[in-house]
Order: sequence, then C-alpha cells, then structure tokens
Amino acid sequence: MSFLSQTLARVKPSPTIAMTGRAQQLAAEGKDIITLSAGEPDFDTPEHIRDAAKAAIDAGHTRYTAVDGMPALKRAICDKFARENGLDYSPAQVSVGTGGKQILYNALMATLNPGDDVIIPAPYWVSYPDMVLLAGGTPVIVPAGMEAGYRITPEQLEAAITPRTKWLILNSPSNPSGAGYGADHMRALTDVLMRHPHVWVLSDDIYEHLVFDDFRFVTPAQIEPGLKDRTLTMNGVSKSYAMTGWRIGYGAGPEVLIRAMAKLQSQSTSNPSSIGQYAALAALNGPQDYIETSRAIFQRRRDLVVAALNDCPGISCPVPQGAFYVYPSIHALIGKTSAGGTVIKDDEAFATALLDETGVAVVFGAAFGLSPHFRVSYATSEAVLADACARIKAFCEEMR
Ligand SMILES: Cc1ncc(COP(=O)(O)O)c(C=O)c1O
Repeated sequence: MSFLSQTLARVKPSPTIAMTGRAQQLAAEGKDIITLSAGEPDFDTPEHIRDAAKAAIDAGHTRYTAVDGMPALKRAICDKFARENGLDYSPAQVSVGTGGKQILYNALMATLNPGDDVIIPAPYWVSYPDMVLLAGGTPVIVPAGMEAGYRITPEQLEAAITPRTKWLILNSPSNPSGAGYGADHMRALTDVLMRHPHVWVLSDDIYEHLVFDDFRFVTPAQIEPGLKDRTLTMNGVSKSYAMTGWRIGYGAGPEVLIRAMAKLQSQSTSNPSSIGQYAALAALNGPQDYIETSRAIFQRRRDLVVAALNDCPGISCPVPQGAFYVYPSIHALIGKTSAGGTVIKDDEAFATALLDETGVAVVFGAAFGLSPHFRVSYATSEAVLADACARIKAFCEEMR
C-alpha cells in the first residue's frame, strides 16, 4: 500500500514548476533572465498598512483570534462589501482565511462529495481544478477562447449544467486572461443560474480593483440579488493592496456555508495571522489612494505590453479589461522552428525555447487549460517589460 494518500495522487504537480526551476537554473549559471511569471504586484505594501501591523505587534495583538477572523475585521469586510459592491452582509456571513486561496479551498472541501461537478471556465487559475479534485469533486472545464473574449457564453453555461453540478467558479477579471464580465455579460450568466436553483456560485473577485478604461467591475450577487443565498463572494487584500505575503483573504455567503468553512478551519489552520488581520483592517478602513495609483500604473504597462506583443510576428494579443496579465495566442507560430532549432509544436515548446534562447520566462497556456497561448504578467517595471518584449519580438522574427 502506498504511503502517500490516494487523494493526493489525483492532483497534478504544478506544470509551472519545471519552467520556474529552469529559469532559476539559468539565472544561477549567470544568464540574463527576465521573469514575467509573477502573480503579485511588484509594489511595497502601503506605509500606513505596514505601520498598523507594527503597532499591532507592539500592542501585543500576537495571540489567537476568533477562528475565522476577528470581529473588527469582519465588520470592516461588511463595510467594504456595502461601500464598493452594494452588498449587505452581516459579520456572521463572513469568513476570513489565510489568503483567498484558503477561502476557496475551505468552500470546496466543506461542500463537495464524490460525484459532484464544478464548472470551471478555461483558461482558469491553475489551482481551481486541483482544489476540486482534492475535495473529491470533478472539474468540468468549459473553454472560453480568445474569439469569445475569454468569456463563456450563457449557452455554454446552460449546456454544462447537469443535476451533478454543485458550483460554478467565476473569476472576473481573470487570471490568466485579464478578461472581465461586465454587467451585461454577467447578467446573461446569472439569468441562466436563476433557472438552476441547485447550482452555487463561487465568485473570485480578487482582481476587483485592477480594471481599466471604462470597464466596471461587477459581482454576481450584486447583479442578481436572487443568487445571494447561494453565492460565495470571495476577495482579499493580496492584489488590491500589494499584500500577497500577509495572507489575508475573505469570503461572504450564507451562514450555513460560512459555519461549515469555520468548522474546517478550526480543525486545520485556525485563525489567519493576527498581525496580518490588523494589517488588512488598516487596508480596508484606511486611505484608498494606493488602489488608483497602482491601477493607473498597471494600465500603462498593459498598453505597452499589448502594443509590443502585437508587433511580434505570429503573436495576437487582445486587450484585457483587468488584472495584470495578458494571454496572447501563438496559433500562427505552431509548426515553425525557432532560431535555436526547436520545433514549436505547442505552447510549452514555445515557452521553453523562449526561455532557453532569449532568457524570458513566461507561463505556457496548457497550464491554464487553454492552448496555444502564453501568459505574461506585467507586474514589473516598464523598462523590464520593454526589454522582454524586444527579445520576444526578435525570437518571433527569427522563426522559420
Ligand atoms: C485568480 C486568483 N484567485 C485567488 C488567488 C489567491 O490569492 P491569495 O491567496 O493571495 O489571496 C490568486 C493568486 O494568485 C489568483 O490569481
């Protein structure tokens, strides 16, 4: 009998690990490597948030808190939902975890049974399918291609729903595509969901504040109040306030779900770090100007990267509505050969050759369930982005 659990055997190791390892190895050999695979803002956490955390330490807030978040933070989260999303939640309907990631994990672990399906539009954030598998459910992948703006249609959703469907996971704006569902697109999906009362919605709103041009962020429970009693609205401070390392995320939904998630957390990790919670409290209740400052910087970078990639022969890069990623297609390059002699048979071959021959590390599309594409994170300076895009352009120009 195997020492390791059968549940773990259902989960794939991260497909990006090999690429990251290769990039680190090349850097250690002294090669000039540019990494465009970061999933986090490159800015420091704003000063008033750092100060609040230091003050919390000095004030002795260094002990256990309530398992799924201290009351003051839950109150601040309710205020945030009311202020920014027009959603009315009570503290008993809020759960705070170690990152948005734990909220998602808790929700799936607390609800899935063998035989339950979870609908996941592709391209998806890499963790969704594996979390579903860990929880004993079955991911049902619905492709949302570039021509469709990386958004699923109501017809696709309708066709994917069966009596086994327990959840739909929506992520707008999306990692990896940056695509967002505006009010009309969201309404079209919520109309379908209203016809299927057994399906719950897990809305991952972690990139809420990183939206560009005239795109307006919406979340399902706000667009369709009739869905609120079967929606978990998930969010966190990681991306909005450059706080990825502090590990605070939260979700709001029906009490029956929130209580089940707290039960799970009470027997696994207990409360998220008390210091992190005080920092998140300062983020949510304090000045919000960092959000607009960083949003404007990301929008400039997005414009730079989209223009530069569309200037590369064989690459087609749509303009995303949000987040800090672009997800261009390399359809026109499949079957070609790089200057270094690699046949570009798929997006993994493209990303590997790009790294080996130019030193630019990106993540290939197969990792996100939609090929042939690659993901660029533009959470780095304009000078670095310009250098990287120039290398990608030369790489494409030399392709035969
Ligand atoms: C789509 C998406 N959801 C959730 C998370 C998790 O964020 P955190 O656990 O830092 O709150 C990430 C992080 O990369 C993400 O990209």
